[in-house]
Amino acid sequence: MKIGIVGAGFVGSAAAYAMVMRGVGTEIVLVDRNQDLAVAQAEDIHHATPFAYPMPVNAGDYEALAGSCVVVLAAGANQRPGETRLELLERNAAVFGDIIPRVLAAAPQAILLVATNPVDVMTQVSLEIARRTSPDFPVGKVIGSGTILDTARFRALLAKHLGISPKSVHAHVLGEHGDSEVLHWSGADAGAMPISDFADQVGHPLTDAVRAEIDQGVRGAAGKIIKGKGATWYGIGGGLARIVQAISDDERAVMTCSVVNPEVAGVQNVALSLPRIVGLEGVLGTIHPHLDKGEMAALSRSAGILKEAVT
Ligand code: 2OP
Repeated sequence: MKIGIVGAGFVGSAAAYAMVMRGVGTEIVLVDRNQDLAVAQAEDIHHATPFAYPMPVNAGDYEALAGSCVVVLAAGANQRPGETRLELLERNAAVFGDIIPRVLAAAPQAILLVATNPVDVMTQVSLEIARRTSPDFPVGKVIGSGTILDTARFRALLAKHLGISPKSVHAHVLGEHGDSEVLHWSGADAGAMPISDFADQVGHPLTDAVRAEIDQGVRGAAGKIIKGKGATWYGIGGGLARIVQAISDDERAVMTCSVVNPEVAGVQNVALSLPRIVGLEGVLGTIHPHLDKGEMAALSRSAGILKEAVT
């Protein structure tokens, strides 16, 4: 399983490193318009393989992506401090108009995994660009990392509050990967119990103040990290590696990621995150979870904001 990564900056290289550490795929190819950067990152990551999973990690041009089962698209600009993800759109859509036809010329069967922000809109733009080259390009083969990271942040903060492993917490963040995202509190559980019952039982109730703090911790995470170090890369690198693993191992894992949906909460043709079944062919199915009234209204608002951003 060859994995291609276009964009060898912080996010692309962190994803490659996380794949090597997790043993995802059998070969990684890094492509960047700055060839020296791609070569340097590939060499550096390759030197970590004896400590993890031995596999070739090379830099190459677009032709070197031939045979990739997934190509991660991590090229483009980052958010500047204070800039929203949506404000990045124009700059990054132009970059993708150049990249995607070149990726598909080399690897027409590849799943495109979009990491570049604003990721939901970039996912929708990517599907449109892919369909210019290949009109039947399947919707489930253009996947945005979406809220995979916000879901991880939500689980990590809940787990910390409850004093348990994040692997024992099931909780999802839906909608935009961005300010309007929806923390699905009413569907969260731990140890096969509703999360609030579990929290009461372990003596760490989820009071309104705790919920507000966790909400802010999830929603404000990127802004806080960007303020401190200019960008985020380890969290998203881990999330990308996890999605690629679900694809390359045909896991059929349920994870929150973004694809273009025919309709969500009354909004048509919009890319955003819902729980998806992810396997070898990409997104194989979508789950529409039960939401309470407030969550449904918030999801509809999030979908509306994203729809407006693409039109
Ligand atoms: C993140 O949430 C900035 O989208 C990036 O870490």
